[in-house]
Amino acid sequence: MTMTAIHTIGIVGSGQMGSGIGQVAAQAGFSVLLYDIAGEVVDRALATIERGVARLTERGKLTAEEQRAILGRVRGTITLADMRETDLVIEAAPEDYEIKKAIFQELDRITRPEVILASNTSSISLTQLGAVTKRPEKVIGMHFMNPPVVMQLVEIVRGLVTSDETLQVVDALAKKMGKTTIFAKDYAGFIVNRILLPMINEAIYALYEGVGNVEDIDQGMKLGTNQPMGPLALADLIGLDTCLAVLERLHHGLGDDKYRPCPLLRNYVAAGYLGRKTGRGFYDYKKA
Ligand SMILES: NC(=O)c1ccc[n+]([C@@H]2O[C@H](COP(=O)([O-])OP(=O)(O)OC[C@H]3O[C@@H](n4cnc5c(N)ncnc54)[C@H](O)[C@@H]3O)[C@@H](O)[C@H]2O)c1
Repeated sequence: MTMTAIHTIGIVGSGQMGSGIGQVAAQAGFSVLLYDIAGEVVDRALATIERGVARLTERGKLTAEEQRAILGRVRGTITLADMRETDLVIEAAPEDYEIKKAIFQELDRITRPEVILASNTSSISLTQLGAVTKRPEKVIGMHFMNPPVVMQLVEIVRGLVTSDETLQVVDALAKKMGKTTIFAKDYAGFIVNRILLPMINEAIYALYEGVGNVEDIDQGMKLGTNQPMGPLALADLIGLDTCLAVLERLHHGLGDDKYRPCPLLRNYVAAGYLGRKTGRGFYDYKKA
């Protein structure tokens, strides 16, 4: 499979990341097929893309004609078998190995054998996901940052068996989408989350131990270390369930207690305080 053979990109899991990746792909000229498990989730993803593209038009970054063309390239489905029409799939389902394993097994059965199966996973082993398919050399990590429309980086993660060809195609694809790429080997958390999540976890420990309150911890890191957003606000943006899942994987995958998730994070997730997506995390978004 070469880059020129890629016309339709399938997105499996159309939540906050999947919908954003779909928009980026459509803006880069690809036809996009969004899949999710429920019709209302697919509808929400299509509406999010519509709003996102309209915003770019309002800001003068797209013409009305480009806006129409982009939206005309995006479709939704709740039938996974429709992925048979796609030339490359990017999976963005929840950060749960069992869910992703089942999806990769199904995609391996449904899609043409030459189709690359990429995952937007933040921490799950691509080698392990590749091993559940008959095409491990075509399984790769394509880790977009949140929000995909705004963030410049795509971290490309090579499983132990991923081929050079797959790496080159995905690198070219990310660049066609206007992104800058970095390459990481397949160890828990890869590069970005191996460094980011311990910092977020430490901020949660600082809150848990009463070192500072939410506002002061975030203000300290924003103004004191020149980060655009404090670590607790960033955790709310990522989703506290996703943060916990990545930390668990770092902890188990690397076997070092320095990655142990803060008990306060576990309690927030148990309470359903998942951050922006549920309206409550370290901050209360319903008040705003
Ligand atoms: N949130 C972030 O900041 C961020 C950044 C980079 C990567 N990621 C990764 O992207 C992936 C998705 O994260 P998200 O933040 O978009 O989560 P999300 O909860 O917003 O979206 C996940 C979507 O997957 C759907 N889903 C559930 N079961 C499914 C199944 N069996 N098949 C297909 N879809 C299914 C859900 O309905 C939901 O719409 C995760 O692997 C996560 O680690 C997240």
